[in-house]
Amino acid sequence: MRVIIVPTREALGELAGKLLIARIAANPRIVLGVATGSTPEPLYAQLRKAYDDGTISLEQAHAFALDEYVGLAEDHPEGYRNVLRRELVGSTGLKEENLHTPNGHSDDPRAAAEEYEAAIAAFGGVDVQILGIGANGHIGFNEPYGSLNSRTRMAALTEKTRADNARFFDNSIDNVPTHCLTQGLGTIATSKSALLLANGKNKAEAVAALVQGPVTAQWPASVLQFHEDVTVIVDEDAASLLEMSDLFERVQP
Ligand code: PGA
Repeated sequence: MRVIIVPTREALGELAGKLLIARIAANPRIVLGVATGSTPEPLYAQLRKAYDDGTISLEQAHAFALDEYVGLAEDHPEGYRNVLRRELVGSTGLKEENLHTPNGHSDDPRAAAEEYEAAIAAFGGVDVQILGIGANGHIGFNEPYGSLNSRTRMAALTEKTRADNARFFDNSIDNVPTHCLTQGLGTIATSKSALLLANGKNKAEAVAALVQGPVTAQWPASVLQFHEDVTVIVDEDAASLLEMSDLFERVQP
């Protein structure tokens, strides 16, 4: 696991942008795994900028979302397909038909989950999986105490995650869906490389558990310690509970 500490959230977006833009430039047919939430927003802004100035295009690329809410109206602005559309489709060259999201509207969520897992497998796993991390250590919507080898499935959101996400739903937890379809930890493990980003003090405990804790279902992200190619970029606040943090790489992009 390569851990890089940067001074601020802006620097996080900039460095992650640099690394990802180089990967896309080297392989325009790249298959990206894309996260939602606030953390990757500055990274997506970097991709749009690089598209605007002609450095890269995702026209030939595919993107697979990590997860999708179950039961939101199809046109709900916080549905992850709609969020990713706004962030990436057109503005980075990504085509609508190459944006893959689990079907949260299916009458048969189990079949939808299996279909999604098969679609990712058909590409042999994604090339670069972008990840945020929940304050409780979740990646995707893989909440604590689930299987470390889970696959795409319907899952319940914890109270903590629903409270964290209420800010996207008029600050009311009651408006936040209770279920989602999410890639499993075993699905994420099939990614060829992963880029996990975290900023802010509220992520510090989860980052310490991810990087230096025992591998445990209590902190789902810790399973990434088994992944062969993970880069973790965190700001000083999110790094604040790491032991011997002076040993980590520090970059000022
Ligand atoms: P955030 O969410 O980027 O909005 O903090 C991350 C996550 O819950 O995975």
